[in-house]
Amino acid sequence: YRIAVFASGQGSNFQALADAAARNELGGAEIVLLVCDKPMAPVVARAEQAGIEVFLFQPKDYPSREDYEREIAAELTKRSVDLIVLAGYMRLLTSVLVEPYAGQMINIHPSLLPAFPGVRAIEQAYNYGVKLTGATVHLVDGGMDTGPIIAQRTVTIEEGEGIASIEERIHGIEQCMYPKVVSWFAQGLIQIEGRKVTVLHAPS
Ligand code: GRF
Repeated sequence: YRIAVFASGQGSNFQALADAAARNELGGAEIVLLVCDKPMAPVVARAEQAGIEVFLFQPKDYPSREDYEREIAAELTKRSVDLIVLAGYMRLLTSVLVEPYAGQMINIHPSLLPAFPGVRAIEQAYNYGVKLTGATVHLVDGGMDTGPIIAQRTVTIEEGEGIASIEERIHGIEQCMYPKVVSWFAQGLIQIEGRKVTVLHAPS
């Protein structure tokens, strides 16, 4: 089972996935490619360190999103990628990638969707004053954080807790849940019927 991770930034989720794969905790999945739109992003060095191939591109070198996505699609096809894992990839995708990978592309978002989609979700939730937040893994459709939900984990905000602490705790649960969800896919445990996603006898 072959996965490609798309990321634009720090790559702490990428690292968690690579570490899980190295420990053989990804349900047999192998990370065959990192796709990154930011040559200077720290995630690039993490991939090199882990010996994972990187496809780097700069959106400004292409006339449109569709153009660079066609190039990415060719890289994915070449490597027979089964699942696309978005991990802090800061770009909306077009139908060029969304359609062929329907049901085979997932994203992680740092809120309890459908609350607080889009950028700066943790800050949005904090400023709203919610007492409970968390992280969501969902299938990707054409919208912004709108696809069918696969898994959610919660974080209870403590009285007087600052945003840095909430951020740290959400990132902690993300790094724990994302490899688990990928392993479910690799083991064929995910069943999709419209918006209803079922995890078949998930180990935990
Ligand atoms: C994570 O919080 C993820 O939920 C969001 O972007 C952040 C990426 O962090 N989509 P990192 O690059 O994995 O450290």
